[in-house]
Amino acid sequence: MNTPVHDFLTDYSNKNMIRCHMPGGKGMNSPFDITEIDGADSLYEADGIIRKSENNTAALFGAGATLFSCGGSTLAIQGMLGTLKQISEKNTIIAGRYSHKSLLTACILLGFNIKWAYPEEYLSTVISPEEIERLIDSDTAAVFISSVDYYGGEVDITAISAVCHRHGIKLLVDNAHGAYKVFTKNHPIILGADMTADSAHKTLPCLTGGAYLHLRDAALYPTAKNVMGMFGSSSPSYLILDSLDLCNSFIAGNKEDSLRTIKEINALKKSLESIGYTLKKSDDMRITVDAEAYGYSGYDLAQLLREKGTECEMSDEKYVVMLFSVSQKAEDFEQLYTIMKNLPRKGFSESEIHTVLKPECIISPREAYFSPKETIKTENAAGRICGGIHCPCPPCVPLVMPGERIDGECVKELIRYGVSFIEVCADR
Ligand SMILES: Cc1ncc(COP(=O)(O)O)c(C=O)c1O
Repeated sequence: MNTPVHDFLTDYSNKNMIRCHMPGGKGMNSPFDITEIDGADSLYEADGIIRKSENNTAALFGAGATLFSCGGSTLAIQGMLGTLKQISEKNTIIAGRYSHKSLLTACILLGFNIKWAYPEEYLSTVISPEEIERLIDSDTAAVFISSVDYYGGEVDITAISAVCHRHGIKLLVDNAHGAYKVFTKNHPIILGADMTADSAHKTLPCLTGGAYLHLRDAALYPTAKNVMGMFGSSSPSYLILDSLDLCNSFIAGNKEDSLRTIKEINALKKSLESIGYTLKKSDDMRITVDAEAYGYSGYDLAQLLREKGTECEMSDEKYVVMLFSVSQKAEDFEQLYTIMKNLPRKGFSESEIHTVLKPECIISPREAYFSPKETIKTENAAGRICGGIHCPCPPCVPLVMPGERIDGECVKELIRYGVSFIEVCADR
């Protein structure tokens, strides 16, 4: 697989030019840290080396077209929704309740209303095709589904895309956690999604910030480029672009190794279960340990693992989430097994993490977010309308959305979530 961006950067840095152009580091931070100089192409008007590299990515993933993002899946999600805004006159997005906050912020900025699809469990994004079909109405512009979710839950994309397409509606998939599926043949763009946002940086060897917007319909490429240019910096990082370019060559050359790594993750799951751990069902790239079933809170188990030299992706009252990558070293799995084998099991205790809250929506997220607000103690917020976006990261998922009325149960859950102060609409 050719690497046009990397080759250009290598060439340019070998020439030792006097750098009378941005950025100010003049190659000191990295010789590849450049800007849109002659020949370097330009991310939002890509027709040279960046476009060639994007085409390589599209071919590897089976997409109609791919756009690079140096602003993570956050920018790719803005790109998906902004593109939709240009091609649909409808105003409502059906979205899984536990979507990442970037869905909410994009809808606030673009003026979309959101109709929430509720899963059975906190943080799950697994919604049935029947439920999606029940929610679709004449104002539905698209369905937005996250798959994989933070615990590793996966959605039936094939079935949901069939529902969407039967109703003439686009399916947008937040695949931030699933870029590695380029190897496993179940990438949502193959299964029927119309657009997907993939954080290359989460599960592929790519610098933080590197992500893809994949399009089924290549004709939408110019529209999506314009939209991403509206939200993204006009100085995207060439270090990230280089890393996205090199990722193509990794994908093309490391299929067997990557599939072996995935096998090793699944083997570790089995080994951990055989020594008494209970695991939540999860996708191929993570292990979600039910810490409580082993006698710990998720926080305590994560702390113990930290003390033994392992930092995990996320922990909460009940679970510890370990996220791997196709470039994970084999010895990591062996060491992890040894560490976890030697952790003493304690008594079983079970508690609920968070109940699935369904607060009443009073005004749109946009209206609430841009209305006059005040910040109050969460304990005093019952009866008020939420005006801000409050959530710990990870998982970066708000429990109560702007525009929704906060009730007593919301207050309890928000405080457990670590939200002690909250913005509410001042005039309501
Ligand atoms: C489900 C989900 N979607 C979107 C995002 C945003 O991705 P990025 O950090 O690449 O902007 C995240 C980030 O963690 C996420 O977990």
